[in-house]
Formats: sequence, C-alpha cells, structure tokens
Amino acid sequence: MNARRLRVLMVCLGNICRSPTAEAVFRAQVQARGLQAHIEVDSAGTGDWHIGKAPDERARRTARKRSYDLDELVGRQVSTADFECFDYVVAMDFDNFSNLRALAAPAQHAKISLLLDHSKRHFGDVPDPYLGGEEGFELVLDLVEDACAGLLDRIVQEHGLVAQP
Ligand code: 4NP
Repeated sequence: MNARRLRVLMVCLGNICRSPTAEAVFRAQVQARGLQAHIEVDSAGTGDWHIGKAPDERARRTARKRSYDLDELVGRQVSTADFECFDYVVAMDFDNFSNLRALAAPAQHAKISLLLDHSKRHFGDVPDPYLGGEEGFELVLDLVEDACAGLLDRIVQEHGLVAQP
C-alpha cells in the first residue's frame, strides 16, 4: 500500500458546477471499487469568484437525482501549491487545461490532463453549463461519469492498486 493516498484534483473555472460534480462522482466511484484507502479527491477553480461558496443549486439538484451529494463542498481557487500536493490535476476543458499549464512549473506539466482524454467515447471539453439550462447539467454528469471511470482505471493500472475490504 502507498505511504500516502494518491491525490486527484478536479478543476474547472468557477468550482461550482463541473469540478464539484467530478469530485463527487469520482469519490463515489473510488468508494464503489473499495479504493478509498488509496485515493482521495478534491476540486478547485481557476477563477476566484466563488471562493467559499457552495456548488450551484442546479448542479446539486442534478447530482442528487443520481445519488451524488455536493452539499458539503466549498469553492476554492487553484494555487501553485496544488501542483506539489496533487498527483493528478484534471481539467474540465481546454481553457482551464491551458491556464493550469501556465500556472504550473514545466516539471509538473505531466500531472495535468483533460478529463475527457480519459474517456473512450467522448473527447474535448466538458461544456460549461453555467449560463444554460438543466439539460447542460445532465450532460455534465453523463460525460463526467464516463470519463471518471476511465481515469480511475488508469490510476489503478499505473499504481497496481488493489481494493481494500
Ligand atoms: P464551472 O461553471 O466552471 O463549471 O464551475 C462556471 C461557474 C461560474 C462561472 C463560470 C463557469 N462564472 O463566470 O461565474
């Protein structure tokens, strides 16, 4: 077993819609596979508008319908220290991916990936649902559920993780 848990950071712009959703979905998948002793997950935004705020009500409501709980999550902004602390920094879209690469030292760039690059079915961005309707939040969940499963498979494979009872 690892001396410390592997750390995954989900990142979007505001940290109130997509990345808290990805945090909750990934945490649920880690637990469902009995890997919580090996992996922990957090989320953050590249922007600073929603620091200290709860996730968007629409994201919470849509997630709740699929049994994910976002209610305890609190918005925060990415910091350069995150590139030291986290093993995987996962951006919801290409703008945030580019901003993360600009913030990180070149030696940390390999930790940064685009969420949908872990999907076998989808590619590109998880679209920002903030200015749209409820269906945008359903799409976020569909894409995030699919790609988080791929990310988890990759981490399990890379580190030879075995479920703990
Ligand atoms: P998120 O969505 O990046 O998925 O959390 C957004 C939330 C807020 C804003 C933009 C995107 N905003 O401009 O305030």
